[in-house]
Amino acid sequence: MWNSLKEFKVQSFPRSGISLRETKFKAGSKTENIKPKTLAEIRYDSKDRISTGFSEFDNVLGGGLVRGSVVLVAGDPGVGKSTLLLQLALNLASISFQKILYISGEESAEQIKLRASRIYKNYNDIKNILILSSTDTDLVLATIEKIKPNLVIVDSIQTMESEGLAGLSGSIGQVRYGTSCFIKTAKTLNIPIFIVGHVTKEGMVAGPMVLSHMVDSVLFLEGEKITNTRILRSLKNRFGPVDEVGVFTMEEEGIKEANSPEQLFLTKNLPKNLTGSIISVTMEGSRAFLVEIQGLVVSSKIPIPRRVSSGIDYKRLELLLAVLQKHCNLPLSGMDVFINVAGGLRLSDPAADLGICLAIFSSFKNISLSNIVAISEVGLLGELRPVQFVEKRVKEAQKLGFKKIISHSNTYKTLNEVIRALSR
Ligand code: TYD
Ligand code: MG
Repeated sequence: MWNSLKEFKVQSFPRSGISLRETKFKAGSKTENIKPKTLAEIRYDSKDRISTGFSEFDNVLGGGLVRGSVVLVAGDPGVGKSTLLLQLALNLASISFQKILYISGEESAEQIKLRASRIYKNYNDIKNILILSSTDTDLVLATIEKIKPNLVIVDSIQTMESEGLAGLSGSIGQVRYGTSCFIKTAKTLNIPIFIVGHVTKEGMVAGPMVLSHMVDSVLFLEGEKITNTRILRSLKNRFGPVDEVGVFTMEEEGIKEANSPEQLFLTKNLPKNLTGSIISVTMEGSRAFLVEIQGLVVSSKIPIPRRVSSGIDYKRLELLLAVLQKHCNLPLSGMDVFINVAGGLRLSDPAADLGICLAIFSSFKNISLSNIVAISEVGLLGELRPVQFVEKRVKEAQKLGFKKIISHSNTYKTLNEVIRALSR
């Protein structure tokens, strides 16, 4: 109720009632068996990494799975987390001797079998994947201890519940407790564990974000429901770069690695003379992707014209429209403007600015620019600004046969100069 307090119970982890002094004393007696090591004594071999069978997935992990690591795979419900991880299990099971334990708290064993039958024809021949349908954290931990698998998948952490702890499954206490137990298990058995986490609508309160500081890596699986492209992105990685992406497509028979992902977001065989379309190059981690930006400008019938953007920030569109109007004398104030990034990609890369401006210009002036690649940030003064990795972006565009590339590094200094040159 407004302006009133609400009581809630603070949850605590189960602990036997020993005092701090006793704990210190106990710890002191344990030190005899413990010997801190020098760096030289610690064994680490980069070849120890396990390939997931998906090179896109391995890249995101920084070169494969690390033993003893805990990887959180987060994403919206229905995006394909269970499919991706079951497929990873099938990949690993069919190429080596792994004993894999797939714990499902959401689906029955039959449902998982049904999914497996879509993905892999000879699923009955796979003997080394064991499925356990359970939501009991302690029972699951005991099972892992007993059968000692080489890999564990927990789908999902929000369904796991320990009886000894207050709170229902999905509450912060349960989710944290489950995760910390799985982390301990991964380290003691030296096996990788995948944890699935749903992104909850309420600002991810009991979702992946409360766990991100605990686990070794956080991967996000993203994708619009309407397109079949799925992007796996690393948000945190103790064993590799962050912001690295892997590109997949969701097909009838499971998830596949995308062929030539750098051109996945381009529309193929577009007629040459269409107006309102231009190509830009966006960076996702260390990879460059070509994207088609579409603009549509029509005269408005309403006092406050519409500005609709899909795939770019609405405020960015407004800002760029103001720059076009002020510095390039484009009278856009009475026009409805629509912007769309083809293929469902979301662009936050400032290098797309010039592409957005030119897509609008192309539609407004009916000039076709669909064979041009535009790479530059646009400032409030209408100036073109340098962006990161420009050589890499240009190279990628040239590789795909684009000859006319406009970027900060060549002749043009302002947006107005570009527009004047293209109007001729
Ligand atoms: P799922 O892996 O269950 O999602 P999550 O675990 O993230 O909730 O995937 C669900 C969607 O994927 C569902 O809409 C059906 C679709 N799908 C396919 O298109 N092809 C397939 O082979 C499979 C198994 C699922
Ligand atoms: Mg699932």
